[in-house]
Amino acid sequence: MYFRASTLTIFATLATSILAAPAPNKVEERQATPTAPGGEGERGVEPAPTYTGSAYGNLELIANLITAPLQADRIALLRDQDFKFDFRNPEGRLNVATGNAGRVVVANRKTFPALIGTGSGMAMGFLGPCGFNTPHTHPRATELNVPVVGRLNTSMILENGVRVVNSLAETFQLHAFPQGAIHQEFNPDCGETIFVAGFNAEDFGTSQVADNFFKLPSDVIAASVGGNIVVDGRDVDQFRSTIPANVAIGVEECLARCGLAKR
Ligand SMILES: *[C@@H]1O[C@H](CO)[C@@H](O)[C@H](O)[C@H]1NC(C)=O
Repeated sequence: MYFRASTLTIFATLATSILAAPAPNKVEERQATPTAPGGEGERGVEPAPTYTGSAYGNLELIANLITAPLQADRIALLRDQDFKFDFRNPEGRLNVATGNAGRVVVANRKTFPALIGTGSGMAMGFLGPCGFNTPHTHPRATELNVPVVGRLNTSMILENGVRVVNSLAETFQLHAFPQGAIHQEFNPDCGETIFVAGFNAEDFGTSQVADNFFKLPSDVIAASVGGNIVVDGRDVDQFRSTIPANVAIGVEECLARCGLAKR
């Protein structure tokens, strides 16, 4: 598709006349009362609220945001600072999974209530050398994951009857993990890896496969794997408590290469 010179001239003329159109009545805008918004033809806007305290995990605020009929009503409940979430210094413990080899910080509708109504969430992972974001699923969202520092060695399995997908993300290379897929990522290098993960849900949720599978009754586990599991000489009842907290220290080969101890 291309424009001929005459078409461009028409555009230029149009643009000039739009720019030259009289400005909207500024005085009238300023005079509108900010306390009476929403009325027909009114131009007033709600001022920012002035409450003290945090939006993070604020259940009363969250309830009001959820029941607000319009996005405009939600914005009127949030201060400017409530639209910012600090992944480096997050508030509270609710939004951080911390293990021996790093942490994953989660912005969801509870930790970051400004997300309510957006259908979106985000996490950032800070993985130390060989740091391992252990196999997990997100029950309510697809994940788009991109390392912004370092690399990520990933694998995933979507559902029954499909192959395992293995892939290495160099810095700034995006991986997609479809909703519900079991997936893992680990930092294969001896420096830090930082990833950003976007989600198409405000409450994407995370379910660590090993942690949760081994919470099932021992006889159920034995029946589902076709026998008793013994790990490092421990049966299921004993090794349950040794499953590492996410973010865990990673695979043997990486530990050996980086000269790191397992625990
Ligand atoms: C990624 O992980 C797989 C499986 O653990 C391994 O075979 C492969 O060598 C790893 N790649 C890198 C670059 O670490």
